Amino acid sequence: MFFCPKADRSGGANTGTFLYDAALSYHRPTMIEFRHVFKSYGRGLNALSDVNFDVAAGELLFIAGPSGAGKSTLLKLIAGLIEPSRGKIKVNGHELSRLPARARPYLRRAVGVILQDVHLLNDRSAFDNVVLPLIVTGHDTATAHARARAAIDKVGLSSKSKLRPVELSGGDQQRLAIARAIVNRPALLIADEPTANLDDASAQRIIDVFLDFHHVGVTTLIATHDRDLITRHGKRVLYVDHGRVSSHVLPSKKQPQEPQP
Ligand SMILES: Nc1ncnc2c1ncn2[C@@H]1O[C@H](COP(=O)(O)OP(=O)(O)OP(=O)(O)O)[C@@H](O)[C@H]1O
Ligand SMILES: [Mg+2]
Repeated sequence: MFFCPKADRSGGANTGTFLYDAALSYHRPTMIEFRHVFKSYGRGLNALSDVNFDVAAGELLFIAGPSGAGKSTLLKLIAGLIEPSRGKIKVNGHELSRLPARARPYLRRAVGVILQDVHLLNDRSAFDNVVLPLIVTGHDTATAHARARAAIDKVGLSSKSKLRPVELSGGDQQRLAIARAIVNRPALLIADEPTANLDDASAQRIIDVFLDFHHVGVTTLIATHDRDLITRHGKRVLYVDHGRVSSHVLPSKKQPQEPQP
């Protein structure tokens, strides 16, 4: 197992208490609410079982846990890409199951999603992959192009923007998926192992992109197997294990200082 935090400040996993960091509750609206959420993919076994937690608007938190624990399932539920078998999920005050079809595009626009297997359009350039969500949502060409260029620059792909995704490395494709997710300036950013294919320097650059968004108030959820990444930032962690979710704050680990000459 990757790690199993010992301390659970929040009353234990799935005891019916709502996992929440009380310090965050002041003056902050709730961005995500899970209440007794179950998800089964149809063969009896629950991928998620009685999951309860809240995420405050503007919070940055990590989703951790072993392979097959249910992390991606959790993120896909938040993004509205799959539906729970039971329970209620609210995002930005809207209960997803009650959202009228005409309101769904607005929610999609407010949520930037980077999935574990990036779905890029291989028949067009990296630039066109990023600009497309803006064109689809009715932005004028000049604004769309300027914002797409800025997003591509932010993830460090400017020199490769004319290449098609198949011509990019796995890590570059992941960065492109991030540019596409941030180009609509979402209120909520969800990333499923966004640094899995990256070397340390590229991973740090991507994490800095997420931190920049967090610092301007974007709620940011990152699923990761990287324990160092989690402990470095001292943020709340939702730990998923066998479909059950508990909330933890790991003590932050100071980065070693570079020796002075
Ligand atoms: N589309 C699906 N159909 C059937 N079962 C699925 C489907 N997607 C996920 N599962 C099952 O649900 C469980 C949770 O899977 P999930 O992908 O959420 O895990 P994960 O924590 O993201 O794992 P990893 O760290 O390997 O990405 C697993 O047992 C998996 O086999
Ligand atoms: Mg996963």
